[in-house]
Amino acid sequence: MRVYLPNKKKKMLDIHIINGPNLNLLGKREPEIYGSQTFETYFETLKPLFPDFHLHYFQSNHEGALIDYLHEHGFAAHGIVLNAGAYTHTSIALADAISAIRAPVVEVHISNVHAREIFRHKSCIAAVCKGAIIGLGLEGYRLGVQYLAGLTT
Ligand code: DQA
Repeated sequence: MRVYLPNKKKKMLDIHIINGPNLNLLGKREPEIYGSQTFETYFETLKPLFPDFHLHYFQSNHEGALIDYLHEHGFAAHGIVLNAGAYTHTSIALADAISAIRAPVVEVHISNVHAREIFRHKSCIAAVCKGAIIGLGLEGYRLGVQYLAGLTT
């Protein structure tokens, strides 16, 4: 007897973590606010927690490069976790890019921006993101990925 077995191999979905300006300095930059771990070290501990997903990491200090990355990956990606750093508070262009793409975006901030200077209280991207995780340290990235991983396609 011939048994037909459909190819059940699941396609791995892509989740991207994007960090904006100055976040390449995590570990060195104001450790009392942002902690003493580099993002690269943290990312290595994050990947094995989500074996069914392709986790990607991108960081840039340039607004246009962040927008280009969103354009390039934001249509095919399952989801995006974005810490736009200071561009959060200033960039309408980034907000437009998030509106333009298909993938859901979760806004993350390591520090509690609402407990800091007034200029950090405003987010240009909050309204076009799915939601925000603020002030929970690097744990915010894991929570963001966990939320996206739970979304059905
Ligand atoms: C930040 C908060 C922003 O106000 C700041 O400009 C950053 C980091 C955070 O993760 O807490 O660069 O996004």
